[in-house]
Amino acid sequence: MNILILSVGTRNKIIQYFRKALHGEGNVIATDMSELAPAIYEADKYYIVPSISDPKYIEKILEICEKEKVSGLLSLIDPELSLISLNEEKFNDIGVTIIGSSYEVCERALDKYEMFNWLTKHGYNCAKTYIDKDEFYQDYENRLIDFPVFVKPNRGSASISISKVNNKETLDLLFLNEKDLIIQEFLDGQEIGADVYIDLLSKEVVSIFTKKKIKMRAGETDKAVSFKDKKLFSLLEKFVKEFGFLGQIDIDVFDVNGKYFISEVNPRFGGGYPHAYESGVNHMELIINNLKNKKNIKINGNYKEGNYMMKYNEILIKELNL
Ligand SMILES: Nc1ncnc2c1ncn2[C@@H]1O[C@H](COP(=O)(O)OP(=O)(O)O)[C@@H](O)[C@H]1O
Ligand SMILES: [Mg+2]
Repeated sequence: MNILILSVGTRNKIIQYFRKALHGEGNVIATDMSELAPAIYEADKYYIVPSISDPKYIEKILEICEKEKVSGLLSLIDPELSLISLNEEKFNDIGVTIIGSSYEVCERALDKYEMFNWLTKHGYNCAKTYIDKDEFYQDYENRLIDFPVFVKPNRGSASISISKVNNKETLDLLFLNEKDLIIQEFLDGQEIGADVYIDLLSKEVVSIFTKKKIKMRAGETDKAVSFKDKKLFSLLEKFVKEFGFLGQIDIDVFDVNGKYFISEVNPRFGGGYPHAYESGVNHMELIINNLKNKKNIKINGNYKEGNYMMKYNEILIKELNL
């Protein structure tokens, strides 16, 4: 069984974990648009591919799938998730399973304003969100919302262009300089990350790992500690099923005075997944079972609390003729 992982970038550990889970019974094939993406060198085989915005991109990936007899495929970056799910049928036709959510689900999750609308409609706590600045000012005048607020790009990722805004002047300036921003109620609370796997066959939530974020650095969780809470687990299970996610997802939650607020979902392996894996939560095995047409049994919360994760840097040296 061969697995193809797209846009691997610097996610070396994800490739290592898949190779380990396959026990040499198949290859892990990686792609990236750059020879300087260190994770490609962890794979059994790699391909340098065009940018995801190239019209020939999907054709190229389909070619790799056929040549390498790929059974399952996943991407590690947000902008590619909708693209591959949009072409799901073409992949299925050549026997490739996409380990991820449908096109509609990816689009709804990656558009933060759409996500807010969905969460509100379905009765989940979430930060009040505005895409229209005038609407925000109207509520501000009516004392329905106050500064500070949180401003970020509606389809942003990796914490690019995010700001905590304390006054009107700064807000106006941000809106002058950037398009497609949203304004959110500022959530003041404990940030939580959840790594969740939804079985591709039974569509049930089979594994949840939750951690409290202790320190963030450059948009990533730098230090965190594992914990469990039954109330949070059942909230996440209900939410994930209702939204329709499949495969691996990463959820951001805030605990504001004992109430859980759902902030955002990345329908892919999040950068913090190694914390879950190293605590014994092996989602690669769950994926491989699914690709072998085996349903997984529920293992929600099969890990220890109080496991601290501390991130540190690694480097790779290669002699290349570029
Ligand atoms: N409404 C909010 N209130 C307070 N902090 C927030 C809010 N929204 C986002 N953040 C902070 O900004 C970070 C990035 O925002 P997020 O919505 O996750 O976007 P991205 O897609 O860039 O990860 C979060 O991890 C959190 O630390
Ligand atoms: Mg985020």
